[in-house]
Amino acid sequence: MTVVIVGSVNQDVVARVDRIPGPGETVLGTSLTRSGGGKGANQAVAARRAGGAEVAFVGAVGTDADGAVLRAALEGDGIDVSGLAEVDGPSGTALIAVDDDAENTIVVVPGANAALPRLAEAQRTVVARSLVLLTQLEVPISLVEDAAALRPTGSWHVLNAAPSSPFVSAAERLLPGIDVLIVNEHEAREIAGADDLESAVTVLSARVRALVVTLGERGSLVVVGGERVHVPAFAARAVDTTGAGDTFCGVFAARLAASGRLPADADAALLADAARWGAAASAISVTRPGAQDAVPQAAEVARLREESE
Ligand code: RIB
Repeated sequence: MTVVIVGSVNQDVVARVDRIPGPGETVLGTSLTRSGGGKGANQAVAARRAGGAEVAFVGAVGTDADGAVLRAALEGDGIDVSGLAEVDGPSGTALIAVDDDAENTIVVVPGANAALPRLAEAQRTVVARSLVLLTQLEVPISLVEDAAALRPTGSWHVLNAAPSSPFVSAAERLLPGIDVLIVNEHEAREIAGADDLESAVTVLSARVRALVVTLGERGSLVVVGGERVHVPAFAARAVDTTGAGDTFCGVFAARLAASGRLPADADAALLADAARWGAAASAISVTRPGAQDAVPQAAEVARLREESE
């Protein structure tokens, strides 16, 4: 039962600020921290800490000191990094400001994440043994296409279309092969070319086997065939929402893998259950600073569910 994540890994450089500065404005930060990030790597950590599945990460780091640190952190979590390439130049870096309301702004400088437009041989081997392939869009879209083509027949492809902009021009081509599309409201509207969420859900759910729209504090909407299920969120006192969506996606993918079921056999109840676990894990993650640092272990998530239900 292997979850394979193909995606980005970044060194996050995080400044806490009282408020996010506007254009042309300077504000003074209150602290500066460096920690593991990148949507792909965050999702890998979340899938691994969820338990119940082997997890492999496919991506690239640079030859700088950050690359070694990022690789060691993933290994330390028990993630298979045989598909993590090293390329000349800097690793990906994300400059993040987090304010007192737990909101953030993020600038990603892709570095090594943008250096490999196609999967290398060692990476292809890893993807070929996936039960659940989980991808996002902070790496070249050609990597996502390679991985989608290589995954075993009948296995899952879960695409978290974040950031959504690179996907808009490729959506026509890629959407029909995706089993589960996970997007937030903004991403749903951008990809569908719709002005409102309802129209976006109608357009997108007709194009994929299953659609999950994350709605922040309002939970998530799972649509499979004609069936819609609203999955409530868990209450949380947020200090930092960075990576909360990644935690949701990683845990969601791990739960699919642990179920032992395949897309052909999937129903709304299975996906809603996976989304509920993802919601619980992301609710814990927002109560802590950082991206990978904030991802909870399985026992913590189980405890929250017991206490809340
Ligand atoms: O989704 C959060 C992540 O976005 C951060 O960890 C940052 O690295 C960027 O990739």
